[in-house]
Amino acid sequence: MKIVIVTGGSRGLGASTAIECARRGMGVVVTYNSNPAKADDVVKTIMEIGGQAVALKLDVGDIGAFPAFRDAVALGLQSVFGRGDFDYLVNNAGYGLFNPIATVTEEQFDGLFNVHLKGPFFLTQILLPLMGDGGQIINITSATTRVATAGVAPYASFKGGLESPDPLHGQGVRRAGHPGELDRARRNPHRTRRRPE
Ligand SMILES: NC(=O)c1ccc[n+]([C@@H]2O[C@H](COP(=O)([O-])OP(=O)(O)OC[C@H]3O[C@@H](n4cnc5c(N)ncnc54)[C@H](OP(=O)(O)O)[C@@H]3O)[C@@H](O)[C@H]2O)c1
Repeated sequence: MKIVIVTGGSRGLGASTAIECARRGMGVVVTYNSNPAKADDVVKTIMEIGGQAVALKLDVGDIGAFPAFRDAVALGLQSVFGRGDFDYLVNNAGYGLFNPIATVTEEQFDGLFNVHLKGPFFLTQILLPLMGDGGQIINITSATTRVATAGVAPYASFKGGLESPDPLHGQGVRRAGHPGELDRARRNPHRTRRRPE
């Protein structure tokens, strides 16, 4: 059984990803930040469809807590799946913030930086020793890295940093997903022409 860790798996795209991975036969570790009850619902749903899952607390912006999180992952892998390693990491956790450059505060900038770039980078780094051979890392980014959007300058910049092949090159990063693009494809499944890169 392949095992996937989905950060921010308690709601939204992360919850859908976690449940779909379970449907495809994977064991799932979902993380939550402020919503343990929602994460428990995701675990319950996965168990109802015959899968295995565990929910763990993680604040992606709190890098100092990553060693304890890594230990919790190791414990969860062993106790729930009888394994010492996992296969896939989906760096999905995050939040949006609309605020024009003129009024963005340093605190808002740092918060977005920690959650959308620094956090995923160092989370990946600390989890790499637990990742089995052939493991893959998927970073969920945003269409705002390619489509000029007012009010999201720091968010789009850090998502763009996460997309760059350089930071994690050679560490199994296969691709970065853009939910906005996925949405457009869903709305118009016949659309075949891609925007020039
Ligand atoms: N939805 C879109 O249209 C869209 C478009 C482009 C990109 N994205 C990206 O796709 C990802 C998921 O978006 P979504 O719309 O599914 O978000 P969402 O429904 O708001 O869910 C966000 C998830 O991230 C977790 N989270 C938030 N801040 C966190 C932190 N500091 N540390 C750890 N976990 C944290 C939340 O956990 P708790 O609920 O437990 O706090 C929740 O599980 C994000 O990276 C977002 O930037 C979304």
